[in-house]
Amino acid sequence: MEPIDEIREAINKAMENYLYEKEPPQLYMAVKHLPFSGGKRLRPIIAWLACEAVGGDGMDCIPFAVALELIHTFTLVHDDIMDKDEERRGMPSVHKKFGENIAILAGDALFAKAFEIASYIRDAGIAKKILYNLAVMAKEICEGQEMDIRFEGVEYVDEKEFLEMIEKKTAKMFEHASMGGAIIGGGSKKEIKALQEFGKNLGMAFQIWDDCLDIIGRDIGKPVGSDIKEGKKTLIYLYAYKNSEDEKWLKKYGNENASKKEIEEVIEFFKEIGAIEYAKNKAHEFSKKAIEKLKVLKESDAKRKLAEIAEFAVKREK
Ligand code: IPE
Ligand code: IPE
Ligand code: MG
Ligand code: MG
Ligand code: MG
Repeated sequence: MEPIDEIREAINKAMENYLYEKEPPQLYMAVKHLPFSGGKRLRPIIAWLACEAVGGDGMDCIPFAVALELIHTFTLVHDDIMDKDEERRGMPSVHKKFGENIAILAGDALFAKAFEIASYIRDAGIAKKILYNLAVMAKEICEGQEMDIRFEGVEYVDEKEFLEMIEKKTAKMFEHASMGGAIIGGGSKKEIKALQEFGKNLGMAFQIWDDCLDIIGRDIGKPVGSDIKEGKKTLIYLYAYKNSEDEKWLKKYGNENASKKEIEEVIEFFKEIGAIEYAKNKAHEFSKKAIEKLKVLKESDAKRKLAEIAEFAVKREK
């Protein structure tokens, strides 16, 4: 069993081989900007580990794993336009560097490349299934992103709606990474189901902790406080909304022109009222649930690493 760094290395090499296009340079420089600016590669690593946890060979996952990372990257390029964020992975975001038109095209090209690469999955039957799953997943991410954007314009959504939104925009991709890896690895129905549930719960934990990092993070490679400026309906916001009489902070929330000081005041308020603690606990609950789902799998190094990733998802600093 390879250390995680070696898996990441194999994925990075494959990405370099698959992203061979050069012309027109204006487009392909924008296409390659984000894929080769770092990134944790969590989704492809999870696919690889899920494949090995059911007895498969992680290398067989490469086209699927790269496809996932490119779909992920495509969502980030378009997400930064929607969220008006000018920094990503510690670099200027694609639209900041290349302009909005090229960024939209670069995202589209990454999305198309993902399906081209997924079609290289060797077993034709499995390839067909995976291509179908990826298409359904991509549609659900759009549905989740639409909710995320629509919620900016309302004062309150309930926790159920919030959970549906993050399940679609974020958890689905983790769910598919883990499930797809198990399918490619030849897992049993029971194993595939368990890994699907593992990925979903991990994805929920991941997004809730991401929302905490947006507020308490340092050097996260993307702007801190962006969710406050954009008026995002995160669990932190929903908790504060329900649990405070004082509404002064609400005027600052969702104000794109809020000053640094005002953002800091909202952050301080969220800390005092226990909103971040509340979200953090929820993230930990989902992470624990994810790890429980692994119980049906035989003991293996891959299974242990999957559990470690579920723990990392709610401890990470970026
Ligand atoms: C960021 O995902 C987008 C969210 C779903 C919160 P990651 O934190 O996995 O981003 P990279 O790939 O490591 O940059
Ligand atoms: C990420 O949500 C969801 C997708 C990109 C589909 P965020 O908007 O919270 O992600 P970051 O914080 O910009 O990475
Ligand atoms: Mg967003
Ligand atoms: Mg964003
Ligand atoms: Mg975020």
